[in-house]
Order: sequence, then structure tokens, then C-alpha cells
Amino acid sequence: MSRFLHVSRADVGLPFVVLYLLDVSRLTETVKGSDLCIFTLVESVPDNLTYSEGPSLMSTYEAHKRLLDRAKQKIHLASFYWSLTDVDIHCPDNSSFQGQDIFQRLLDLVKAGQVDVKMAQNNTNNDTDELAKYGAGVRTVDFPRLEHAGVMHTKMWIIDESHVYIGSGNFDWRSYTQTKELGVLIEDCPCLGADAEKLFEVYWYLGSPNATIPDQWPDEYTTGINISSPLLVHYNNTEAHVYFSSSPPSFCPSGRANDIDAILNVIRSAKKFIYISVMDYYPLVIYSVNKTYWSLIDDALREAAVDRHVRVYLMASNWSHTESYMIPFLKSLYILNRTPHLRVNIQVKLFTVQSTPAQQTIPYARVNHSKYMVTDQHAYIGTSNWAGDYFKYTGGVGFILEQPDTGTNGTNLRRQLVHTFLQDWHSQYAQYVL
Ligand SMILES: *[C@@H]1O[C@H](CO)[C@@H](O)[C@H](O)[C@H]1NC(C)=O
Ligand SMILES: *[C@@H]1O[C@H](CO)[C@@H](O)[C@H](O)[C@H]1NC(C)=O
Ligand SMILES: *[C@@H]1O[C@H](CO)[C@@H](O)[C@H](O)[C@H]1NC(C)=O
Ligand SMILES: *[C@@H]1O[C@H](CO)[C@@H](O)[C@H](O)[C@H]1NC(C)=O
Ligand SMILES: *[C@@H]1O[C@H](CO)[C@@H](O)[C@H](O)[C@H]1NC(C)=O
Ligand SMILES: *[C@@H]1O[C@H](CO)[C@@H](O)[C@H](O)[C@H]1NC(C)=O
Ligand SMILES: *[C@@H]1O[C@H](CO)[C@@H](O)[C@H](O)[C@H]1NC(C)=O
Ligand SMILES: *[C@@H]1O[C@H](CO)[C@@H](O)[C@H](O)[C@H]1NC(C)=O
Ligand SMILES: *[C@@H]1O[C@H](CO)[C@@H](O)[C@H](O)[C@H]1NC(C)=O
Ligand SMILES: *[C@@H]1O[C@H](CO)[C@@H](O)[C@H](O)[C@H]1NC(C)=O
Ligand SMILES: *[C@@H]1O[C@H](CO)[C@@H](O)[C@H](O)[C@H]1NC(C)=O
Repeated sequence: MSRFLHVSRADVGLPFVVLYLLDVSRLTETVKGSDLCIFTLVESVPDNLTYSEGPSLMSTYEAHKRLLDRAKQKIHLASFYWSLTDVDIHCPDNSSFQGQDIFQRLLDLVKAGQVDVKMAQNNTNNDTDELAKYGAGVRTVDFPRLEHAGVMHTKMWIIDESHVYIGSGNFDWRSYTQTKELGVLIEDCPCLGADAEKLFEVYWYLGSPNATIPDQWPDEYTTGINISSPLLVHYNNTEAHVYFSSSPPSFCPSGRANDIDAILNVIRSAKKFIYISVMDYYPLVIYSVNKTYWSLIDDALREAAVDRHVRVYLMASNWSHTESYMIPFLKSLYILNRTPHLRVNIQVKLFTVQSTPAQQTIPYARVNHSKYMVTDQHAYIGTSNWAGDYFKYTGGVGFILEQPDTGTNGTNLRRQLVHTFLQDWHSQYAQYVL
């Protein structure tokens, strides 16, 4: 079983002014934050991948360094596996510098003892054992015991309840130099930071010894920020509606959007186009003994394309751990194109990260690992691959931003993500599934 592929809510005194507004144009309730936040799209581009325009976004390494530099009180990390140093491979790799640097900075902060460092993880590992030795808090969220399936697959950083990273980047040296990753860096944003902290508190609670999933989560874990009442956030001199989603459903206290519901809502709200970049796309539950059909996302995409004539571009990853049965499912979407009278436009491509012979020897590297979707209405940035297991059993989170084009062309993170997607889509690394 591949370790990387299988991958498989606290403080009610909110540090911001909450205004419940009835925004008639949306016919939903909007929670208005008062912070002036900064949102930045961040990515990792594997070494030796080149684009005509060059990488245009902040690097994941830079984003993680910034977060550690800004920490004054708390560093709360929700993680899958840890492998920031390259001791996991037999010979040291010269592309592991960034991972080692992040580990050293975190260790220095733990040793200095001024900041409360807590980590919720999937399983014990060398990196967090080392950090725990110097006083970091570490808890394992035991999915086999809690859910009888799944893993803790979240990748989330929350600093001082104000700064947040959510994205595909694991706590792994490869995530800075060998895999393609996409995430969002949220800064100076206590209104969202406090809500992200509630996501973390769920993991922290469930990681305590012998914890069980409560029948009903206590009030301090509940949120009022969700699909039907997103937070109106000011960022970079503009505004957007934002909320977080979480998976599995049993980890969602009252008010918290399920990750799958968020994804389906984004697909169903699209009017013109849906662009998707995921490592794995399977309309199946794949990690059970017998694979079973799981078509929630696939159905929603077909419905968008057939019923609403929404243009769908889907890009999955072609790498050494791609299961052969992914391809026929992708082709079954692509072939709908060949029915002109239906006016269906679904394009499907596979993204291959090329490797040098030396790079080929690095296990679980050289893959586009991003998990995001962008439409004419929303940006969705997640931590889960798109197979049923992730939404039924596995721990993951999503960042959802709603910001359609307005008359003016100011800052718009969603539009920036469209640009990022199309750059990959039109690159030499993406080829049609034939
Ligand atoms: C995650 O935890 C599960 C259960 O403890 C374990 O079987 C699995 O190997 C872990 N995954 C990774 C990538 O470490
Ligand atoms: C790959 O990238 C590394 C680091 O940027 C560089 O040192 C090396 O020369 C590149 N190799 C090739 C084959 O382009
Ligand atoms: C954990 O650390 C030990 C001792 O430093 C080392 O021998 C081992 O290879 C490490 N294991 C992993 C998976 O990194
Ligand atoms: C890293 O190693 C690869 C081959 O293993 C080599 O091609 C590359 O030049 C090295 N890069 C640096 C910065 O040393
Ligand atoms: C957890 O459960 C084990 C076995 O049932 C028991 O021995 C242990 O005391 C419990 N720990 C706590 C902190 O309740
Ligand atoms: C979303 O939050 C609002 C409060 O802001 C709540 O009334 C509503 O029930 C929540 N929706 C869900 C699906 O939990
Ligand atoms: C898997 O499928 C086989 C054949 O249909 C069946 O005999 C078996 O009980 C199934 N296993 C599980 C765990 O559902
Ligand atoms: C998938 O990757 C393999 C190995 O790099 C390559 O030969 C193949 O052409 C790729 N397939 C597609 C559809 O890009
Ligand atoms: C905004 O940008 C889009 C695409 O970049 C362009 O088509 C549109 O005309 C611009 N709108 C305004 C008001 O500048
Ligand atoms: C927001 O501002 C920061 C700092 O100037 C910049 O790095 C980031 O790219 C901006 N975000 C967007 C979506 O334009
Ligand atoms: C690969 O990652 C980049 C962002 O880093 C994204 O724009 C692209 O669409 C992704 N492609 C695939 C196939 O996941």
C-alpha cells in the first residue's frame, strides 16, 4: 500500500465583530468579518518543470517560512505524514534543503519555548517525535479506531489564530521541490483564523487518549460560517464570501459544511466553466476490500455539462502510482464530447511531471499533487483526492471562496487561479486522454 497515495471546532468569544446581515441578493445569511486580510495563492513547482511564463505564484516553502516567522503565540498544525528531512531515503537528496530548513526553524521555535506548538497527526513518526522531545504537543488522530477506515490527510497550518495555510502540501521535503502543490496563504485574518482553529480543535480533541466521536459536538465547536452563510471577508482591497469545509462528516460539528457538500455546491453553482486539477479522480471507493461505485462528483459534472452546458476541464495526474482503472472513467467523461447535438464540452487531460533518471529514484515524487477546482463563481482549494474514501472516512479540509467577476478587474484570487490552471492545461505537461 502506497503511503503517499493512500493517502488515502473552541473559543466562542470571537475576536471580531460579527454582524449578521441579510443579503437579499444572495437570499442567504452572510457573516461579515471586519479584518483586512491578505490572501495569496501559493504553489510548488517540481524542479526542472519550466513554463514559458515561469512560476508566477509565491512558493509553498516561502509561505511556510513566513508563517513560522510570524508566530508569536501558537502554531497549530494538522498533518498527514511527516518527512521534512531526507532520512527516509538512502542517499541524501540535494533538493531536500527547503524541507530541512522548515524542520529546523520549527525545532528552533519549539526549543525556544515561547510559542505553543501543537500537532495533530496521522501516525507517529521521527519528525514529530523529535519535536515532542523538546516540548511540542503531539496527538495522533487514530482513524482505524475512530472511523474504522480512512486516514488523517489534512494539511493545515494555523498561526496565532490569524494566519492559515490550507493546500495539498504535506510536511514532506518533496512538497517543496519534487511535487506540484497548490494552496492558499491567509494572513492577518482573525475572523477566518478563529474558524480554522475550530477545525483544528476537532482533531486535537479526537487525538486525546481514548477519545471517541461525540454524538453531538459541544457548542464551542459549532460554526455559523458555511455554504448558506459564508463570511464576507475583505482581502487585498476587495471582498469575497469564504468558508471552510471538513471531512469526514462525523468530524463536522453543527454548522460545519461537509467537504463533499462544498464541492457539489461549487459544481452546481457554476454557470460557464469548471476547471479541476486533482491528482486522483475515481468515481469509486477505492481503499475498501471490494471497490464500490461512488458517483456524487461524476454525476454532478455530467449534469453541469449536459443540462447546463457548462464547460468542464478535468486534469488528473499521470505518475508511477496511477491505477490503470482511473483512465477508463476519465475516458467515459471525455467521450461525451463526441455527441455534438448534446453540446457537451468536457475535456480531460493527464498531467505528467517528467523526471530525470536521478529524480526517478526518489519514491513518491514527481507528481502533480494539487487538489483544487475553479469555476466562474468559486475557487475551491482542498486537501483530498477525488475518490469516495476521502469524503466518507478520511480527514480533510477545504477553503471555498466565492467571487464572480464584477464589472471591474481588481484583485480576484479566483481569477488568479483560473490563470494558474490554464497555464498548466496548455503546457506541454498536460496531454489529452485519448
Ligand atoms: C496513517 O495511519 C494509518 C493508521 O494508523 C496507517 O495504517 C497508515 O500507514 C498511515 N499512513 C501514512 C502515510 O503514514
Ligand atoms: C534540475 O533542477 C536542478 C535544481 O534546480 C538543477 O540543479 C539541475 O541542473 C536541473 N537538471 C536538469 C536536467 O535540468
Ligand atoms: C527515524 O530515525 C532513525 C534514527 O535517527 C532512522 O534510523 C530511521 O531511518 C528514521 N526513519 C524514518 C522513516 O525516517
Ligand atoms: C542535484 O543532483 C542532481 C543529480 O542527482 C544534479 O543533476 C543537480 O545538478 C544537483 N543540483 C545541485 C543544486 O546540486
Ligand atoms: C484508555 O483505555 C485503556 C484501555 O481501555 C486504559 O488502560 C487507559 O487507562 C485509558 N486511558 C485514559 C487516559 O483514559
Ligand atoms: C449554516 O450556518 C447558519 C448560521 O450561520 C445555520 O443557521 C445553518 O443551519 C448552517 N447550515 C448548515 C447546513 O449547517
Ligand atoms: C467482496 O466481494 C466478494 C465477492 O463478491 C464477497 O464474497 C466478499 O464477501 C466481499 N468482501 C467484503 C469485505 O465485502
Ligand atoms: C503517462 O506517463 C508515461 C510515463 O512518463 C508516459 O509514457 C505517458 O505518455 C503518459 N501518458 C499521458 C496520457 O500523458
Ligand atoms: C476583465 O478581464 C477580462 C479577462 O481578463 C476581460 O475580458 C474583461 O474585458 C475585463 N473587464 C474590464 C471591465 O476591464
Ligand atoms: C494579496 O497581496 C499580497 C501582498 O501584496 C500578494 O502577495 C498576493 O498575491 C495578493 N493576492 C492576490 C489574490 O492578488
Ligand atoms: C498541477 O498543479 C498546478 C498548480 O500547482 C495546477 O495549476 C495544475 O492544474 C495541476 N495539474 C494537475 C494535473 O493536477
